[in-house]
Amino acid sequence: MLTMDETDPVVEFIEEDEPLIPGPPQGRPWNILVVDDEEGVHEITRITLKDFSFKGSPLKLLSAYNSDQVREIMARETDIALILLDVVMESDDSGLQLVEYIRDELNNRTVRIVLRTGQPGKAPEQDVITRYDINEYKVKTDLTAQKLFTSITACLRTYESLRDIERNQAGMARIIKASARVFQQQTFNDFGHCVLEELHGIMGIEDPESVDAGYFVGMPSDRPLLIAGTGRFLDQAGTPMDTCFPRDTAGIDFEQLERFGEFFSDRAYAGMFTSKEGVKSLLYLNAPHPFSEMDRNLLRIYAHNISVGFDNISLAREIINTQKEVILTLGEVVETRSQETAHHVSRVAEFCYLLARKYGLPDEEADLLRLASPMHDVGKIGVPEAILHKPGRLTPDEFEVMKQHSKIGYEILRKSNRSIMQAASIVALQHHEKWDGSGYPGGLAGEDIHIFGRIGAVADVYDALSHKRCYKDAWSRREITDYFTESSGGHFDPRLVEIFLENIGEFEAINLRFPG
Ligand code: C2E
Ligand code: SIN
Ligand code: SIN
Ligand code: FE
Ligand code: FE
Repeated sequence: MLTMDETDPVVEFIEEDEPLIPGPPQGRPWNILVVDDEEGVHEITRITLKDFSFKGSPLKLLSAYNSDQVREIMARETDIALILLDVVMESDDSGLQLVEYIRDELNNRTVRIVLRTGQPGKAPEQDVITRYDINEYKVKTDLTAQKLFTSITACLRTYESLRDIERNQAGMARIIKASARVFQQQTFNDFGHCVLEELHGIMGIEDPESVDAGYFVGMPSDRPLLIAGTGRFLDQAGTPMDTCFPRDTAGIDFEQLERFGEFFSDRAYAGMFTSKEGVKSLLYLNAPHPFSEMDRNLLRIYAHNISVGFDNISLAREIINTQKEVILTLGEVVETRSQETAHHVSRVAEFCYLLARKYGLPDEEADLLRLASPMHDVGKIGVPEAILHKPGRLTPDEFEVMKQHSKIGYEILRKSNRSIMQAASIVALQHHEKWDGSGYPGGLAGEDIHIFGRIGAVADVYDALSHKRCYKDAWSRREITDYFTESSGGHFDPRLVEIFLENIGEFEAINLRFPG
């Protein structure tokens, strides 16, 4: 019988703590667990398999001499490809019990199991193969090198496929979890950090700080900035992309990236997305190992998910930022300049939304108008107090001053390039234009007036007429419907008048919801 060599080279030269990288092992060894209570079997297996490799990767042999050691190793090592398993050890069926333990208790269906018995009589092949989930049954005396190679090769091939399937599933599950977490982030900074953290997780990168990855975001008119980065981008957040990631040294074909939205090389990935608001973002990774096909697929799916998440967050941020601006801007007007209440603002917003939906605008646009319309009169901030709050009728000169509020509002709002502010600037500028061209400030007619302006006019006048103002009393329903009927095709877009008259009950319901 051979003796155990304590410094076996096959066991020695393989690193212990290889990171778990999805995809083919890329030079990492295949873990094979040899289980036998006889030293000699370990020895001969080791010698026989010394130079064996499969798909360019060597074997790493782990040894167990009893069931407890097997349990200990199986609990610790998640990537064992094959077990060469002795049947008779402490008891006649130790090996068979281990098969049940591995398959049923550990729920490991991936590891290949080859039973090796010295006493085939104790565990007849037919019996064992049908009762236990094993892959092969061998008699130890039949342990020639060639047969062992053939058997191991077949087992590793199967193991590789099973593991890829398992990792694909695990990868998808990871992506779904990662995406959900990314979606919860409320700011661009948190979003960026989360995107990278999850990216490293999905790619199985264990030392992310040292791996080059960056997430860049650019407002439509600005240069993209680094939001979050690792490796060469670590601690560089806020730096413009062309500074920390110059095109000529990036190792990326930017033309291809712009054209297809993604770029792959051996180890580098770049994905580019444009949000609905026109905000561009770029995700970059230079992986420590070449991408497998599965890596590429997972990256693609993840990147796609992120772009959806990004759209959500940029819309959410847009609304939050806009609301802040609105509150600031309007707050000033409403509190110090105008006597109109917050309810006036809410009503006009709801009238506009209702008209927009019934007119047939898509929900997104109707929503945009709802958010934008409350600002239509911010320009009154520029109208002198004495005119704005005059209890009676305005003189023609005073009215000329008053009319300036459209343009003033437009000038205030157009300075922001947020889509909501842009919409608001249109409403501010055009809400006093009239369908027949007799309005102000542009004297625009018909469909030259933006639909937001035409809708804003109906909403604004209905609100003015149905409520008391400092210069007038509230009108009755009859007076209002008469006025709109008369003004159809004059002051107002006839189609909008029709919609308004047909649905006047819904408009009145909004007045009841926001009284005063
Ligand atoms: P507002 O009070 O929000 O009124 C908006 C629009 O509703 C007016 O735009 C007008 O088209 C319509 N409207 C309001 N009251 C009446 C009315 O009694 N009769 C008719 N036919 N239409 C009415 P407009 O005329 O361009 O006025 C813009 C803003 O100028 C008004 O906003 C209000 O702040 C101010 N304003 C207009 N007329 C007077 C007035 O006689 N006295 C005072 N103090 N302010 C006025
Ligand atoms: C084994 O794979 O365990 C034995 C192979 C053989 O007997 O050829
Ligand atoms: C900012 O402008 O606040 C950063 C990007 C955004 O929040 O829209
Ligand atoms: Fe106005
Ligand atoms: Fe108004």
